[in-house]
Amino acid sequence: MSVILAIESSCDDTSVAICNNGKITANVIANQTIHQNYGGVIPELASRVHQQNIVPAVQQALINAKVTKQDINAVAFTRGPGLLGSLLVGVSFAKSFALALNIPLISVNHMHAHILAHFIDDPKPNFPFICLTVSGGHTQIVLVKDYFDMEIIGETLDDAAGEAFDKTAKLLALPYPGGPLIDKHAQHGNPLAFKFAEPQIADLNFSFSGFKTSILYFIRKQEKDNPNFITENLDDICASVQHSIVQILLNKLKKAAKQYGIKEIAIAGGVSANSGLRNGLQQAADEQGWKIYIPAFQYCTDNAGMIAIAGYQKYLKKDFVGQDVSPMARMEF
Ligand code: KG4
Ligand code: ZN
Repeated sequence: MSVILAIESSCDDTSVAICNNGKITANVIANQTIHQNYGGVIPELASRVHQQNIVPAVQQALINAKVTKQDINAVAFTRGPGLLGSLLVGVSFAKSFALALNIPLISVNHMHAHILAHFIDDPKPNFPFICLTVSGGHTQIVLVKDYFDMEIIGETLDDAAGEAFDKTAKLLALPYPGGPLIDKHAQHGNPLAFKFAEPQIADLNFSFSGFKTSILYFIRKQEKDNPNFITENLDDICASVQHSIVQILLNKLKKAAKQYGIKEIAIAGGVSANSGLRNGLQQAADEQGWKIYIPAFQYCTDNAGMIAIAGYQKYLKKDFVGQDVSPMARMEF
C-alpha cells in the first residue's frame, strides 16, 4: 500500500497530486496569471506566488483524494530542471512535510516525469519506446529503455518548440503563453497559406532560433505592403506556423523511429497538447505503422500527476533522498 503526495513547482504552475497505489486520485493545478502582464514568466514573481499557492493546493489535493496527512507514505518533488526560486519553494515544502511526518522524500527529474506521465492512464507504452518531449524549455527525442533508463538521441541546439510557439505569438501581439492561442487561431486558418523553410540540422537535432527570425522578417516584409497584414491574416499565419513546427518535429521523429527500428512512439510536454501535433502524429502513425501514445490534456503541460507517478516508481525501488538534497540536480537528465 502506498499513498504519495507530489509537488511540482518548476516554473509558473503550482501543482500538487496524490498517487494511491499507482492511481492518480488528485491533480490540483494552480495557474499563475500574473505573468500575462509581462509577456513571459518573471522568476521572482513565480516563486512568491508558489509560496501563496502551495498550502491551499496541498489541502485541496488531500480533499480531492479523500486522504489525510497521516495516510501519506512518501513525498515526491520536482528537482529541476526549472527556475531555482520556484524549485526552492517546492523542495522546502516537501522537506518540511517529510520531516514533520517522518516519511521518505523522493526527488524526480521534471523531464523524466513528462515522459512517465504515459504510465498514469491506459494504454501504457511498451519498452523500448521513443518519446518526443516538447515543452517551453526543452525539445528532445528520447529513447526510453525503462522507467529511469532513458537516452536523449536528439535535442534542440537553441530554442525549444514551445518557445517557437510563444515567440511567434508575441510577434503577432498575442498574450503569453501564446502556444495555446496559436493552436486556437490555427483551427480556422489554412496551414499551406504561407511557407517557412525547414531548418537543415544534422542528425536528430533541432534548431528553432533561425526559424523564429525567418517569421519575423516575413511579417516585417508583408507589413511594408499592408500594415494590417497580421490582423487580416492571423488565422492563416497561425495555421502555417503551426504546420511548419509540427512538420519539423514529425520529420525528425520519423527519422529516429527508422534509425532505431522502433514503432512504439509517444509525445509528452506542454506542446503535446497542440492539436496540429496530435493530428499529425495520428497521420504519421497510419503511414508508418506506429503504435502511438498521446497524454490526456491535464498531463501534457506541467502537473504534479506526472511527478506522483514517477515518485511511485521510485517508491517501489525505495529510491529515496535525504534532507540534505539540493533543490536542483547537477545533471539535467
Ligand atoms: O511542459 P510545459 O507546461 O512547461 C515546461 O516544462 O516548459 O510547456 C509549456 C509550453 C509553452 O511554451 C506553451 O506555449 C506550450 O507548452 N503549449 C502549447 C500548447 N499548450 C501549451 N503550444 C502549442 N499548442 C498548444 N496547445
Ligand atoms: Zn514541463
